[in-house]
Amino acid sequence: MRQLWCLRALAGFAVLISVVSTATGSSCMPGFNPDCTDINECATNNGGCQHTCTNTNGSYYCSCNYGYMIDSSDHHHCNDVDECSMGYHSCDSSDRCINVNGTYNCSCLPGYHITDNGKSCVDSNECNTNNGGCDHICINADGSYQCLCGTGFDIGSDGRNCYDKDECNLGDTVNICAQNCLNIIGSFLCSCRTGYQLDNNGITCSDINECLVNNGGCDHKCRNEIGSYTCECNSGYMLNSNQHGCSDVNECELNNGNCTEMCVNTPGNFTCSLYVTTTTDLTLLYYILPISVVIIGILLVIIIVLLVVNKRRKMQEYEATGENFNNDKTLSGEIANPTKSVYYNSKHPQATLVS
Ligand SMILES: *[C@@H]1O[C@H](CO)[C@@H](O)[C@H](O)[C@H]1NC(C)=O
Ligand SMILES: *[C@@H]1O[C@H](CO)[C@@H](O)[C@H](O)[C@H]1NC(C)=O
Ligand SMILES: *[C@@H]1O[C@H](CO)[C@@H](O)[C@H](O)[C@H]1NC(C)=O
Ligand SMILES: *[C@@H]1O[C@H](CO)[C@@H](O)[C@H](O)[C@H]1NC(C)=O
Ligand SMILES: *[C@@H]1O[C@H](CO)[C@@H](O)[C@H](O)[C@H]1NC(C)=O
Repeated sequence: MRQLWCLRALAGFAVLISVVSTATGSSCMPGFNPDCTDINECATNNGGCQHTCTNTNGSYYCSCNYGYMIDSSDHHHCNDVDECSMGYHSCDSSDRCINVNGTYNCSCLPGYHITDNGKSCVDSNECNTNNGGCDHICINADGSYQCLCGTGFDIGSDGRNCYDKDECNLGDTVNICAQNCLNIIGSFLCSCRTGYQLDNNGITCSDINECLVNNGGCDHKCRNEIGSYTCECNSGYMLNSNQHGCSDVNECELNNGNCTEMCVNTPGNFTCSLYVTTTTDLTLLYYILPISVVIIGILLVIIIVLLVVNKRRKMQEYEATGENFNNDKTLSGEIANPTKSVYYNSKHPQATLVS
């Protein structure tokens, strides 16, 4: 308003000047025709005004468009008003004021742009163009913007590019994983050592009770421990080299199991026993067998002797009676085999065990 008032005051000053400049040599007042009617000076060449000519009774004046000021010396030309240097502007500062013909523009700070009227600065949303040059996330702010990176990434020194964060080597005293850590692009994976399993939180590890499944593969006893397990064997057994199977200890091998006589190993134990003569004792067979053979041999000799004696007696009888000798041939053959079988079965039952 102050600006506008100032320009109107200047335009009013031009009237006085114009009165003088249009004076004529008639009897009438300057600015009047000889018949003393008003001369419309504006009808000719716009009264010489650059912008607006206004006719008045006996005179005229020039005025200028908004933003211009009548030339103080010729009162016809219009000079641009430098609103910037005169302070007639609404820019943030004179530095940001740009004078243009008839008006002024404001320039804006970085991060702002001018509105259509050229006077107001509003925030530029840098994120609308090419994501602000950000690798991941662009956050617009008043007069600026910021690039952010997704979880698992760090912003580079350029403030735009994102680089994978090595969560496994954060340099913290506390590791992110309870046991093993594997960095992957944008994240990390925790894992556990043998004998442990990863908890649902994906971070911590818990002992696996190996004994719950298939007794840990142990033959006898399974003992769970933190991070592992061990197999144990019942008394009288010892753990195999594979640490799972159990083998019977032959107690008799060492000092005869402390037995005074015979040591008999049993699965998981042993018994001491005395040497007793039983039919089940195989060692006895080694004596019975040769004895039986000798006895059978002696019996065969006796039979042969008896047969010979018997034959000789019959021959003596034949010589005495004159009967046919040949009748006895078949008789002696039939008797021979059954006789042998009777001896075999009744006198030597042990021999059947051998066959
Ligand atoms: C113009 O001015 C003259 C002289 O002062 C006066 O006589 C005349 O009446 C005026 N005309 C009008 C229309 O005011
Ligand atoms: C204003 O316009 C005139 C011509 O109309 C030109 O000569 C002058 O350079 C312009 N000034 C500015 C500041 O644009
Ligand atoms: C002034 O602002 C207007 C509107 O924004 C624009 O059209 C014009 O080009 C600007 N002029 C200068 C010299 O900045
Ligand atoms: C035999 O006696 C020794 C000494 O008393 C003992 O250490 C060992 O265990 C015994 N052996 C058996 C098989 O019992
Ligand atoms: C081993 O045998 C002895 C004597 O027969 C018995 O007292 C002991 O309990 C047995 N041990 C096992 C583990 O069976």
